[in-house]
Amino acid sequence: MRKMTGLYIFLLLIVCCLYVCTAEKFIHPDFSITETMMKQKIEELSHPLIKEKILAQPGEFLESMRVLFALPGELFLLVDKNHPLPAAYVPGDLVPLKDYPVKITYTSMMVRQVIMNDLLAMISAAKEEGFELTIASAFRSYDTQKNLFNYWAKTVGIEQAKRESARPGYSQHQLGTTVDFHPIDTAFKDTKAGKWLLSYAREYGFSLSYPDGYEEVTGYIYEPWHYRYIGKEATHVIDNYFLGVQQFFLEFCHHHTGFFREHLKKDTGS
Ligand code: DAL
Ligand code: ZN
Repeated sequence: MRKMTGLYIFLLLIVCCLYVCTAEKFIHPDFSITETMMKQKIEELSHPLIKEKILAQPGEFLESMRVLFALPGELFLLVDKNHPLPAAYVPGDLVPLKDYPVKITYTSMMVRQVIMNDLLAMISAAKEEGFELTIASAFRSYDTQKNLFNYWAKTVGIEQAKRESARPGYSQHQLGTTVDFHPIDTAFKDTKAGKWLLSYAREYGFSLSYPDGYEEVTGYIYEPWHYRYIGKEATHVIDNYFLGVQQFFLEFCHHHTGFFREHLKKDTGS
């Protein structure tokens, strides 16, 4: 009898050892996600290069997700031709730009308070480089966007207007985190400010929404003057994994971050 008990314990120990040795480990301490689960999830993405970049550094990618989840979620809200905001949406923390040391082209401009620190830092850095950044458009309400879209439809025709201007409810400007730099013109890309922003805006959390050559992806022509604030952590993620294209990242957030949130362990403080 004693011999049998010893044998059972021995077998149990072997089974336990086998389980511990073969069970898949989580790839990040704060997420209950194994390598197999991660691969399956990332397979759902359509862009092969983005898949490759994420799967090359899955642990680092999850660490970035953990950091982003601790930030205000609306910074990453997808607002594009297929994803509108409610007509009545107005951010709660709008502040007048005329109260700050910022050059503006009209006095009633407002942005969300949450972008001010980084916006002021970016403007100061540009000044140190010897040029001034002037803001030509900021928060736009549903009604303002409606008037603007109608103006462009009358001026350039509806088909061209759709390539350049968002319909009311569909503009990133309604978020209060988007700014247009002066001049709102394709020639902005060749100015000192335009060139500098293209390289350095990301360091202050600002991301070019409609890059050159991506009209099929974003729905809009190249707008070298239009930057949306998403925070430095997110611009870093866009550069590392999403080929520098904001639209790819925001679509990923919209469709896929639910999975990562669900598997974020509850006691991580995020
Ligand atoms: N020009 C951009 C697309 C807007 O109207 O929001
Ligand atoms: Zn704009």
